[in-house]
Amino acid sequence: MSAQIIDGKAISVDIKNEALEDAKILREKGVEPCLAVVLVGNNSASRVYVNNKKKACEYCNIKSLSYELPEDTTESELLELIDELNKSKNVNGILVQLPLPKQIDETKVILAISPDKDVDCFHPYNVGAVFTGGKGFKPCTPAGVIELIKRTGCDISGKNCVVIGRSNIVGKPAAMLLMAENGTVTICHSKTKNMAEICKNADIIVVATGKINTLTKDMVKEGAIIIDVGMNRNEEGKLCGDVDFENVKEVAGAITPVPGGVGPMTIAMLMKNCITAAKMQNGIE
Ligand code: GUN
Repeated sequence: MSAQIIDGKAISVDIKNEALEDAKILREKGVEPCLAVVLVGNNSASRVYVNNKKKACEYCNIKSLSYELPEDTTESELLELIDELNKSKNVNGILVQLPLPKQIDETKVILAISPDKDVDCFHPYNVGAVFTGGKGFKPCTPAGVIELIKRTGCDISGKNCVVIGRSNIVGKPAAMLLMAENGTVTICHSKTKNMAEICKNADIIVVATGKINTLTKDMVKEGAIIIDVGMNRNEEGKLCGDVDFENVKEVAGAITPVPGGVGPMTIAMLMKNCITAAKMQNGIE
């Protein structure tokens, strides 16, 4: 039996359509949801990401304000812009694309964004809220992982969940969100002993190591759900994830492809956070 291939592209469209519907309701109440997108410098990958975010805003009927600053922008110039955006009543969300040029301290910038406009969920206040299970913003990629699992029809409650990778932007928050769904969570990483054994017991495995073939067929229980957050290029230059997809799909119950799995979900969840920001700032449930 071959696994169900989880269609992240289709699920991301469903989520964007939900954001579009919410944007319509907000506009009927006189609120125009608005995201400020800030790009500093000439990083070509960042430019592609930022354009995709602006396109998603357009699709969801969320207004986007674009700020493109030169490579030699100073830290205080950027902090000044953030201060202005923090104060603007018309701006609900602020996204500063990372990485930033080396003269700018990213931590300072993240701390400067008002937590109630921090749609990336990078500010320590919001990171803390994820750990305490509060309402508000969810980090986009980990939240996308949860949606993929749920919309496959899986109830996470009581399931054995393994997260491979302990990064601050994916592994750790993904573990917290799985726990908030009442999963029993184990985090594995490069120093973990018996990783195959731990994974073999899992109903759900989230892989976020940035290393090709982190998860192989022998590590997977029959019917397990596999979410691959990886985005690598193999020797042939082809995009691939952290999971040995071709072999693991023979035993898994459901699995995300790369590309077309987790990737499109990040921006969809960003749109959802923009709507959440507009609702929170206007006292709308
Ligand atoms: N750079 C790479 N991923 C992201 C992201 O999700 N948000 C921001 N702001 N920058 C990024």
